[in-house]
Amino acid sequence: MFSRRHSRNATLAFRLHMTGVSLGNSRDQLNKKLQERIKSMRGIKMGIAAAALAFAATSAQAADITIKFSHVVAENTPKGKMANKFAELVHERLGDRVEVEVYPNSQLFGDNKVLEAMALGDVQLAAPSLSKFGKYTSKLQVFDLPFLFKDMKAVEKFQQGPKGQELLHSMEDKGFIGLGYLHNGMKQLSASQPLIEPADADGLKFRIMSSDVLAAQFEAVQAVPLKKPFSEVFTLLQTKAIDGQENTWSNIYSKKFFEVQDHITESNHGVLDYLVVTSADFWNGLPDDVRPVVKKSLDEAIAYGNKISMEKAEADKKAIAESGRTTIHELTDEQRAAWVESMKPVWKQFEGDIGKDLIDAAVASNG
Ligand code: SIN
Repeated sequence: MFSRRHSRNATLAFRLHMTGVSLGNSRDQLNKKLQERIKSMRGIKMGIAAAALAFAATSAQAADITIKFSHVVAENTPKGKMANKFAELVHERLGDRVEVEVYPNSQLFGDNKVLEAMALGDVQLAAPSLSKFGKYTSKLQVFDLPFLFKDMKAVEKFQQGPKGQELLHSMEDKGFIGLGYLHNGMKQLSASQPLIEPADADGLKFRIMSSDVLAAQFEAVQAVPLKKPFSEVFTLLQTKAIDGQENTWSNIYSKKFFEVQDHITESNHGVLDYLVVTSADFWNGLPDDVRPVVKKSLDEAIAYGNKISMEKAEADKKAIAESGRTTIHELTDEQRAAWVESMKPVWKQFEGDIGKDLIDAAVASNG
């Protein structure tokens, strides 16, 4: 865990010990004890002690904003680096008032649990893949449509355009606020055998994120999609419980999928990006002088993550190629066209759920 924790609790306990108040379990208990103590004080001496106690209580409250940021990937990825940068910036700007605790590698919550945990207040910030919000909105599934975006520039254009910005608010009725998009990159296909023609995927089991669109994408080439958490992918591949998966270069590299997959096809068939999300209760409850500073820090951390995502994709692809552990296949235009033709009917299948307006806007971003 990356943390800027200072011994604030110990300091507070010491202060209270010096004033004869023991540290209770909750702030309510603490405040109650403080008030009782203040009430029982008499005279000037007691006035000074009361002021000290009030100061201690104020400091305790101000220092008590903790933002737990939970994610599932390694620290050496665009998301891992962005999260750590955010923690650093918040610490620089807000000191002990706000502490960001970053939990990478599914240490705190896996992808299937993090949004439930957020609704319960157990985590304040997360950046799940856009494919993992299907339970809360069907709109974000636009990002899963195969061969929709021609490259990351088109993805960025769509995300920053009016429709993309509208989508940040698509789950407010469920209590979640989208604070920004973070890039990872384009997805590649990996398998235990070469995937050159769509027919090569026939009958193979692929791990997918929890998205019905991704399920339909693999069904379109007669493959068998299995929705599984990210934390299980390596073991599923290693034990050959599944034959393949789709992911970005940085995830394939940092989680060592390339060591247990003999073949990777550079298909660039879809995008894997993130929505940085928080709960409306938490966000709206932040003090008015804190919220803009947290948002500014987040925007800067996202810009940093987005900047390095392209460089990481290139560097990690190169490292995988140089490892000699797997074969990377490039597709000819004709081979790629065959995958497009097989998978593109999925757009029509989900047009009703996603909305034609969103699909059209995404297509327009390729221009
Ligand atoms: C992530 O990048 O957050 C995980 C992607 C996946 O589940 O494949």
